[in-house]
Amino acid sequence: MAISFTLNGKSQSVDVSPDMPLLWVLRDTLNMTGTKFGCGMALCGACTVHINGEATRSCITPVSSVAGKKVTTIEGLSADGSHPVQQAWMEEDVPQCGYCQSGQIMSAVALLSKKPNPTDADIDDAMSGNICRCGTYQRIRKAIHRAASMQGGKAHSAA
Ligand code: FES
Ligand code: FES
Repeated sequence: MAISFTLNGKSQSVDVSPDMPLLWVLRDTLNMTGTKFGCGMALCGACTVHINGEATRSCITPVSSVAGKKVTTIEGLSADGSHPVQQAWMEEDVPQCGYCQSGQIMSAVALLSKKPNPTDADIDDAMSGNICRCGTYQRIRKAIHRAASMQGGKAHSAA
């Protein structure tokens, strides 16, 4: 059965089992590998995407549940890494191994779209489900503050 949704601003239709996790569809069916597999159990945040603007763990999201919705992945933030959050990440030199970082960025973008000037507590709260084995948390926090000031305290959401 074909399942249709909007992916990074474009209509997309996939013919897969309805209970296939969205993460598999993105990576294996659509060959969009920016979204990572970490745990498969909603414990690490590596697979975070936006569904209708909400940060969501794609590893436990059946693809059928996104029918008719807007899905945004890291590839959809910008074509060239120019989204303010991506810029701030580069300026603060956040990644170490990089594996967790697309999920971190997607959670950060969702946070800033709701709270354009988050406090440290807001950041810790919103980012607590995104695990970084390399311990980049301090740089992530700085980058989120930097992105907030780059955006002038205004919400800047994804495609
Ligand atoms: S892979 Fe989805 S939360 Fe870890
Ligand atoms: S940068 Fe290595 S897991 Fe986060």
